[in-house]
Amino acid sequence: MGTAVKIRTAPVRFKSNITRALYVMAAALGQKDSYTHAHAQRVAAYCRRIGLRAGLTGADLLNVTWGGMLHDVGKLGLSDRIFSNKQALLSQEMTGEVQAHPIIGAEMLRHIQCSKTISAAVLFHHERLDGSGYPFGLAGEEIPLGARIVSVADCFDAITTDRPYQRRKTLPHALMILKEMAGVSLAADLVALMLEEIESNGMEPVMPAANAMIPFLKSR
Ligand SMILES: [Fe+2]
Repeated sequence: MGTAVKIRTAPVRFKSNITRALYVMAAALGQKDSYTHAHAQRVAAYCRRIGLRAGLTGADLLNVTWGGMLHDVGKLGLSDRIFSNKQALLSQEMTGEVQAHPIIGAEMLRHIQCSKTISAAVLFHHERLDGSGYPFGLAGEEIPLGARIVSVADCFDAITTDRPYQRRKTLPHALMILKEMAGVSLAADLVALMLEEIESNGMEPVMPAANAMIPFLKSR
């Protein structure tokens, strides 16, 4: 007989089916790629911290936190060669594939009719203030607030953590890079809030505790 596989039942209870579906999507990405899952949890935490400093409360704060958690969920649709890639420079073809992930993610979310704030954060998190981002090249306040918050959190976490093709920067170096991006590719007011927040409360742990974000992701 083969070894019995133990299936852990989910200990997390959500009030709504939509929230449960969002959680399953986040967990599915975690099964695909552990770095992306830890990154998603840290980005969600940073989004919440920036959101609090920006004065967001209630559903607005909840949705921007979910936007951080699910921003890369479209990577579920990418081929395995993208996840196993260790090169900093991708081929044109692979770059095209990676850059489709915001649209894939928004399309996945369309089926569960979640908040527009969440799907906009997923769809627009690689847009840049100066119009240099993708997939649409939106600029300034054409980019919804939730997506602008996710962009700041995503960039900061990408700079401060190790990836197969890139060593993390020290915190002072990372803060300098973020300041250089402020007002150019990232919203200056949100970068200022992020800098204040990091100075006051520090960085998120590299390996977040399992389900650490759950209390902040539950709808009331
Ligand atoms: Fe992304």
